[in-house]
Amino acid sequence: MNAPDPRPIRPLPEILINQIAAGEVVERPASVVKELVENAIDAGASRVDIELEEGGVRLIRIRDNGSGIAAEQLPLAVSRHATSKIANLDELEAVATLGFRGEALPSIASVSRFTLSSRRAHDEHGSALQIEGGKIGEVTPRAHAPGTTVEVRELFYNVPARRKFLRAERTELGHIEEWLRSLALARPDVELRVSHNGKASRRYKPGDLYSDVRLAETLGEDFANQAVRVDHSSAGLRLHGWIAQPHYSRASTDQQYLYVNGRSVRDRSVAHAVKMAYGDVLYHGRQPAYVLFLELDPTRVDVNVHPAKHEVRFRDSRLVHDFVYRTLKDALADTRAGMTAQEIGAGAAHPAEGGSASAMPGATASSFGYV
Ligand SMILES: Nc1ncnc2c1ncn2[C@@H]1O[C@H](COP(=O)(O)OP(=O)(O)OP(=O)(O)O)[C@@H](O)[C@H]1O
Ligand SMILES: [Mg+2]
Repeated sequence: MNAPDPRPIRPLPEILINQIAAGEVVERPASVVKELVENAIDAGASRVDIELEEGGVRLIRIRDNGSGIAAEQLPLAVSRHATSKIANLDELEAVATLGFRGEALPSIASVSRFTLSSRRAHDEHGSALQIEGGKIGEVTPRAHAPGTTVEVRELFYNVPARRKFLRAERTELGHIEEWLRSLALARPDVELRVSHNGKASRRYKPGDLYSDVRLAETLGEDFANQAVRVDHSSAGLRLHGWIAQPHYSRASTDQQYLYVNGRSVRDRSVAHAVKMAYGDVLYHGRQPAYVLFLELDPTRVDVNVHPAKHEVRFRDSRLVHDFVYRTLKDALADTRAGMTAQEIGAGAAHPAEGGSASAMPGATASSFGYV
C-alpha cells in the first residue's frame, strides 16, 4: 500500500512563529517581568516601577527611566529577530547585555494584550504602539516621561492551554518576587518599586553592591549577619560575593544565587564546586547558602545556550570548577563555625594572602581592609 501524499509544506504565520517562541521564553508572569525588567536595565534605567494585578496574570506594567525608543523604531522593537544589542557574530560572542535574541517583546505581544510606550530624552513627546492578537497597530502620540513603559494585559488570553497551567495569584506573585530578589541582589544600583493590586508591596532602594543593605533586604538579617565576604581573582577569573558560614545551612537550595557576568544562572558544575568546598563542614543533607558573582571575559562563556538564558556554557568549565572550589575552600578554612564577625576580623582572615574572606556586615567589613 502506498503512503498517502504528504501535506504541503507551508511557512508558518508570523503570530504562530511568535507564539512558538513564547512557548520557550514566556512560561508564566515571572518570565514576562524578567524579560521586561532586563530590557529596562539594558536601556540604562536607574529606576524601574513594576505594577502587577492578580499575580501579573491580569496586568504587568513596567515603566523605566532608561534611554527610550525612537517613535519610528517602535514597530521594529516588537518585530522578531530585531535588536539594538548585537549586529554580528563577534558581538554575540562578546555580548554584555542581558538581552540579545531580539524575540522577547514579539513573543510576549503574541500571547497578551500589549502596549509599548516610549520617549527618548530629547523627543518632544512620547509615542505608543498597541498589539492585539499579534496585530501591530499604528504608532500614535502618547504623553510619556523619558523612558519606556510596557503594559501586558491578560497574559495567555489567546492561549488557553498555557493559561490552564497558571497557578494561584499568590504562587505567581511568589515567582515574580523570587526573581526580583535575585535581580535586586545583583543590581543594587537600580531602584525597584513593586505594587500589587494597587498597593505598594516592595521597594528596593538604590545602594552599592557591598553596602550590605540589599543583602539584608533580600535574604534577611540572619544571612547578612553571618555571611562571609569573598573576593578572589586568578587566571582572568574573579569570584566575589558572600557565602554563609557552615552553621547557617539550609534544608533546600533556596538561598543559592549565582551570577555569571551579572546574569543570574543555574550551573550544575559551579553548584557542585561550591558543595565540594563545603564538603565535610556541612551536615549531611544540608545545603549551603551563597550569593556569588563570577566574572570572566565574555568570550570565555557562551550565553546563547538556553532560550530563557537560564544557563551558560563555559569554554573551560574544568578551570572554572576548580577556581570556584579552591577559592571557597580557602575562604571557609579562614572562618570558624560559630565565631562572631569581630573574632574572624581580629584573627582568622589573611588579607596579605589575597583577602579571600572577611565577615559581614559591611559596616564593619570595611574596617577589615577588604572592601
Ligand atoms: N525598556 C526598553 N528601553 C529601551 N529600549 C527597549 C526597551 N525594551 C526593548 N527595547 C528595544 O527593543 C528591542 C527588542 O527588545 P526584545 O526584548 O524583544 O529583544 P532584545 O532585548 O534585543 O533580546 P532578547 O529577546 O534576548 O530579550 C531591544 O533590542 C531594544 O532596542
Ligand atoms: Mg530583551
